[in-house]
Amino acid sequence: MLTAVAASDTLHPVDDDQLLGELEPYATQLLERHLETAREWFPHEMVPWSQGRDFAEDETFDPDASELSPGARSALLLNLLTEDNLPHYYRSISARFGCDDVWGQWSRRWTAEEGRHSIVIRDYLAVTRSIDMRELERSRMVQVSGGVVPDPPGIADGIVYVAMQELATRISHRNTGKLLPDECGQAIMSRVAADENLHHLFYRDLASAALEVDPSGTVEAIDRQVRDFAMPGVGVPDFDKHARLIADAGVYDFTLHHDQILVPMLFRHWRIDKLKNLTATAEQARDRVLHHVERIGRVVQRMQARVAAPRPAAAV
Ligand SMILES: [Fe+2]
Ligand SMILES: [Fe+2]
Repeated sequence: MLTAVAASDTLHPVDDDQLLGELEPYATQLLERHLETAREWFPHEMVPWSQGRDFAEDETFDPDASELSPGARSALLLNLLTEDNLPHYYRSISARFGCDDVWGQWSRRWTAEEGRHSIVIRDYLAVTRSIDMRELERSRMVQVSGGVVPDPPGIADGIVYVAMQELATRISHRNTGKLLPDECGQAIMSRVAADENLHHLFYRDLASAALEVDPSGTVEAIDRQVRDFAMPGVGVPDFDKHARLIADAGVYDFTLHHDQILVPMLFRHWRIDKLKNLTATAEQARDRVLHHVERIGRVVQRMQARVAAPRPAAAV
């Protein structure tokens, strides 16, 4: 459990340095909890090496030789390229949070864990020949050379964004695993998803602490980040095509985003509808974001009703 630190006067603006300083004890406790909970694992022990063979230099990828659906393939490609973009995530997080004290300890540990994800997913894909490895490598070069990562405008925004993104990544990895035809692939994706869950818990609870320290500033950050949220991977070639295939395959879509991210985080964990003593600007931000989530909920209901409705004979 977190122990409370003295909260700032909630009606006065808290700048980024103050917020970082006040959040430091929370971050220390959350890092300790993470280190106690995280389980050591080894990428090389999860990869089915016996299925592997050498690649010819001019070998072309044959999608029919793989059992993977196009949706699963796109999900793995986007998942892996996002993990590959790690140097830029590290750069962005270090620039914002600094490299010292608990912030540096956390971001270095987080980087080491994320690096493990790209190692295991790439080895699995290469060994099982599930993906066009040349396309993957070319896309990695484009993406990492481009260096595009989301850049939230402050500490509270950064924490809120990563809390949502880690949960979105956990959901996406877990659902991708369900589409894989072999137990090794399923185990890899659920192992990686378990790590993402711990990352999510760190940032989710750090955001809860930020709501105690600076409720108004954090609510404004939640409003901005919820309304602007985009999954990482925007710099990936053919991102829109892959995102569509992923949504069609049920790996990550609007409904999941509403039901498994927005509703639990905003209402169950952060309870932003119950917060008191907000500034007038934060009250407006809260109204705006609640209205936004409500609107998404209505769209999701309409989509579900359309799917459930019997189709007229002519349409069939
Ligand atoms: Fe990861
Ligand atoms: Fe993560």
